[in-house]
Amino acid sequence: MAASSPILSIKGLTKHFGGVQAVTDISLDVQAGETLAIIGPNGAGKTTFYNLLSGRLNPSSGSVRFKGKEISGLAPHVVSRMGISRSFQINNIFPEMSVRENVEVAITVQQGESRRWLNRASDNQQVHQQATQLLQDLGLTHLAEQIAGTISYGDKRLVEIAMVLAIRPELVLLDEPTAGMTPDETGRVVELVRGLARTGKYTFLITEHDMRVVFDLADRILVMHRGSRLMLDSPERVRANPEVRRAYLGEEDPVTEQT
Ligand SMILES: Nc1ncnc2c1ncn2[C@@H]1O[C@H](COP(=O)(O)OP(=O)(O)O)[C@@H](O)[C@H]1O
Ligand SMILES: [Mg+2]
Repeated sequence: MAASSPILSIKGLTKHFGGVQAVTDISLDVQAGETLAIIGPNGAGKTTFYNLLSGRLNPSSGSVRFKGKEISGLAPHVVSRMGISRSFQINNIFPEMSVRENVEVAITVQQGESRRWLNRASDNQQVHQQATQLLQDLGLTHLAEQIAGTISYGDKRLVEIAMVLAIRPELVLLDEPTAGMTPDETGRVVELVRGLARTGKYTFLITEHDMRVVFDLADRILVMHRGSRLMLDSPERVRANPEVRRAYLGEEDPVTEQT
C-alpha cells in the first residue's frame, strides 16, 4: 500500500473531555477505495474518532489530512462539501416526507442553495433524476413514494445510507450501520456496502459490533481500546492476535457477535 498517497492521513489524533482521554494519539493512513473497520468495546472512542473526522469535534491535538488538506477544525458542512459523509447511530430521516423527498433534500443540502431548490424547475428536475438514480442503485426504488416514517427500521437505515451517498462523498463514515437490524436486514446492508466498495468510488470507514459484518467487509481493521490504537492489520491477523482476543473478541470464538 505504500505507492499511492493516502486519501486520509491521521497523525497523533487526540481528544480529551476534561480528564477523559476519549481518543489518544491515533495515527494511520487510509488508502482510496479501502474499507476500514473500526472495532472496540463501548467507550473505546469510536464515535469520538468519527466526530473528529467529520468536524463535529475539534481535536485536542493532532492532524487529519483528507486528500492532502488539513481538515481538523473545519465545520461539519465544510468537511461534508469536501467529500466526507457520515451516518449516525440514530435515524436522521424526516418521517413525514416520502423516501424520495428525503433523498432529494439530502442532494439539495449538498448543492447548498435552497432558493434554487424552490425556484428553478430545471434544477428540481435534475435533483429528481439524481434521487431516482440513487434509489435505483441501492435497490430502493420500490420505497421511493412511501412515507419514510412508515417503512421498516431496516429500510430506514438503508434510506439513511442513500442520504449519506447523496452528497457524492469519496469517504463514507458509517457508524454501526447494522445496529438493531434483523439478520436479513443486516445481510442487505452488507451486500449494499460490498457492492458500493467494489465500484472503487468510495472509501469506507465502518464501526460495527457484529464481527461477521466486520470480517465480511473489511480490508483492514483498526482495533481501538480505551482511546488508543491497539492494532491495525488484516482481518486474519486481527482475528489471530491473542491480545485482541483477550481485550475484545473473547477467547473462545472470535467470530461471534459482540454486544
Ligand atoms: N461529549 C463528551 N463529553 C464527555 N465525555 C465524552 C463525550 N463523548 C464521549 N465521551 C467519553 O469518551 C469515551 C469514548 O466514547 P465514545 O467515543 O462514544 O466511544 P464508543 O463510540 O467507542 O463507544 C467514553 O469514556 C465516553 O464516556
Ligand atoms: Mg459509538
